[in-house]
Amino acid sequence: MIPKLDWENLGFSYVRTNCHIQYIWRDGRWDEGKLVSEPFLSMHIAATSLHYGQAAFEGLKAFTCKDGEIRLFRPDMNGRRLGTTARRICMAEVPEAMFTDAVKRVVAANRDFVPPYGSGGSLYVRPLLIGTSAQIGIGPAQEYVFLVLVTPVGAYYKGGLKPVRAVVFDDYDRAAPHGTGHVKVAGNYAVSLEPHLLAHHRGFSVELYLDAKEHKYVEEFGTSNFIGITKDGRYVTPQSHSILPSITNDSLQQVARDLGMAVEVRPITFDELPDLAEIAACGTAVVITPVNEIVRGDRVVRVGPAEGCGPTLEKLYRHVTGIQVGEQPDTYGWCVKV
Ligand code: PLP
Ligand code: COI
Repeated sequence: MIPKLDWENLGFSYVRTNCHIQYIWRDGRWDEGKLVSEPFLSMHIAATSLHYGQAAFEGLKAFTCKDGEIRLFRPDMNGRRLGTTARRICMAEVPEAMFTDAVKRVVAANRDFVPPYGSGGSLYVRPLLIGTSAQIGIGPAQEYVFLVLVTPVGAYYKGGLKPVRAVVFDDYDRAAPHGTGHVKVAGNYAVSLEPHLLAHHRGFSVELYLDAKEHKYVEEFGTSNFIGITKDGRYVTPQSHSILPSITNDSLQQVARDLGMAVEVRPITFDELPDLAEIAACGTAVVITPVNEIVRGDRVVRVGPAEGCGPTLEKLYRHVTGIQVGEQPDTYGWCVKV
């Protein structure tokens, strides 16, 4: 099936493709995996993923490169990170070779959905690992499904390198439509949905999280890591155990070093934000999205140009996206051909 899509203007929403790939873990081992065209899953109503949050996802992208080949960006890193997550929440582990093979198989089966070179779009690849067997007492599932779905995407925040505004909720309990203090929720992204919607209602694209103990240090955005450029051109990003180790951030740090910049991974206080020259959100979905305004109560931090992207972040953006589509040399072997 050749899809009729407006490749230059894709947003970030689900578009049905040919198929996803699905593997089952039963009796202590994974099956061979199969391509499934129906985008539905049937599972037990007492599955651990539904009740106890035994579920994890990854996100990576496939690009049509300048030479016409389709390449994935650092799939090994996503495979390794999923392994760490699986161990932490006691799920069956997906061997790294199986992970990469699954991603390659599903992308190959959906070649026609990979946006063309020069369109600015990519095929977003979403691996998902879930506990599927019944369990009513607390405990890990005995069966798991690992699936990888794909969907063509463009910019996460409309406008590419156009800056967005972020918000910090110190008064979240009062800001939320109902009190939040006594609501116990299982830990996953669902807890960020309400602050996310609240941010949107107030005209912000994204919410910025500070450390839970002192509300003093910057952690990350709801969708992505935090990066900053100091006035003397250093790349700074928070050191924290409670943020996602972003593969995009790791790649940008390497690119920054290669461009001769100093890189600092260290605690960053909210109070030092006005001293930065440029701020951005970074991640697979958001790539680099400049953030030019952060509002915290009656404090407003404005950083970087009012319109457009600051020069250093733009240089990093061009470089890393250039590697992804084969316009820049892939010095570290990050890109994997499908
Ligand atoms: N932080 C959060 C909360 C995210 O959801 C993401 C995206 O998955 C990231 C950071 C960025 O990680 P990566 O660059 O590996 O996509
Ligand atoms: C990604 O960047 O892959 C994510 O999972 C983040 C989410 C906002 C889509």
